[in-house]
Amino acid sequence: MATFFEGESHTFSEYLLVPGYSSHENIPANVSLETPLVRFRKGEEPSIKLNIPMVSAIMQAVSGPKLAVALAQQGGISFIYGSQTPEQEAAMVEEVKSYKAGFVASDSTLTPDMSLEDVLELKERTGHSTMPVTDDGTAHGHLVGIVTSRDYRLSRDDRAKKVSEFMTPADKLVTAPEGTSLHDCNDIIWEHKLNALPIVDKDGRLTSIVFRKDYDSHKSNPDELLDEHKRYMVGAGINTRDYAERVPKLIDAGVDVLCIDSSEGFSEWQKLTIDWIREHYGDSVKVGAGNVVDAEGFRYLADCGADFVKVGIGGGSICITREQKGIGRGQASALIDVCAERDRYFRETGIYVPVCSDGGIVYDYHMTLALAMGADFLMLGRYFARFDESPTRRLNVNGSYVKEYWGEGSARARNWQRYDLGGKKGMSFVEGVDSYVPYAGPLKEGVDGSLTKVRSTMCNCGALDLAELRDKAKITLVSATSLVEGGAHDVILKDSNADTNYRG
Ligand code: IMP
Repeated sequence: MATFFEGESHTFSEYLLVPGYSSHENIPANVSLETPLVRFRKGEEPSIKLNIPMVSAIMQAVSGPKLAVALAQQGGISFIYGSQTPEQEAAMVEEVKSYKAGFVASDSTLTPDMSLEDVLELKERTGHSTMPVTDDGTAHGHLVGIVTSRDYRLSRDDRAKKVSEFMTPADKLVTAPEGTSLHDCNDIIWEHKLNALPIVDKDGRLTSIVFRKDYDSHKSNPDELLDEHKRYMVGAGINTRDYAERVPKLIDAGVDVLCIDSSEGFSEWQKLTIDWIREHYGDSVKVGAGNVVDAEGFRYLADCGADFVKVGIGGGSICITREQKGIGRGQASALIDVCAERDRYFRETGIYVPVCSDGGIVYDYHMTLALAMGADFLMLGRYFARFDESPTRRLNVNGSYVKEYWGEGSARARNWQRYDLGGKKGMSFVEGVDSYVPYAGPLKEGVDGSLTKVRSTMCNCGALDLAELRDKAKITLVSATSLVEGGAHDVILKDSNADTNYRG
């Protein structure tokens, strides 16, 4: 006979934090958000720590190389999506590992034959106003010119006008040869009062662009997450089918950490995958596993040797798993139970296996709640999809900018491996949707804004780091009516969009 599961099934929005005593030392500037990414033994240090407790979801619409660099600059890590060939995924990892801060590969390149209409469309889509022109329209074609918004007048110019007629041609451009240091590029930018400096190789091919605003990137990103060779750190998703082919390619590309990407991870497939990695690489390759939603699932994966365990089934914003299959659990309750088991496991074995709360974060305060409930770090999809750096298109829908965001289990992504239960390959039904999310500008600004709130609430709880937050946080369930009391109520809002502004 089936048993009734004894745990509860609440979501983040059903909880609040009750403030605790805060001393004069509890100021946001004193708060550390450092957190372990991978397992470690009592008394030892984890081999990888994050400087902020955020990782980006293993999704086509979220974790490409550009977002990975932007997030590593802030101190978190991306997991490049695995729903592509091993070669493509490894190439993305390599792109992050070979990224030189300040040297940007163009993602909005024109050909001379394109029209002003094309320029405006590209600008709308990417938000970039400086666009290199190359002979073949690729980011590494021969440089033939540059277009900026100062090159055309919308009020006068015909939209059919060709790029070649209004671009600044290459012979009138200041460029720098490949190999020029960032320091020297900056001197050239200042000397010639430029906004962008194209870097070209000896054959005149574009290699990258240095923008004036990017020069100080290192100085303005004190938390950036670097490996021992000062390269940005990056993770990658793997599946339980083709690991023998995929993992070696990712390792050759320089990946720092892997994560098995599965909608339901309490399974022997995860053990077989971890066993294979241990057999071939020992403990030198770090691999997270999941997803689980209870203590039993956590213990199974911890015993299998997972370096971290991911929690969450059915809570993702684009997820319809609960509706389609009737499995899952409220994210907050799942997290609370799993974190309690992590602590028990630590007391029993002396091994600490970090827990990642995956999916379902809507408001910034949900991040603080999840950390207070015990999460070592958070995996976010919708949150990161909204930023400039996510790999998806920015569109103007009814006068508002949006970005596309689709689930790995949607018909669009067709990531059947994530939902694989063995047997014949293929997706028989969808577990995710294709959607839009409100555009939210550059990642740095968004993350800074969210973490300012997290630090501030931690101060209200008297906590200066995440371990202290877990110890001191007083969490309370709230009633449905007090949820209404928590928002603006019984007033007529002057700005009808104000409520969406609180959302992270
Ligand atoms: P979000 O941050 O609420 O948008 O949730 C992101 C998380 O949803 C991911 O990290 C995955 O665990 C999960 N996810 C991604 N795609 C799908 C899907 O198509 N169906 C169900 N869950 C998904």
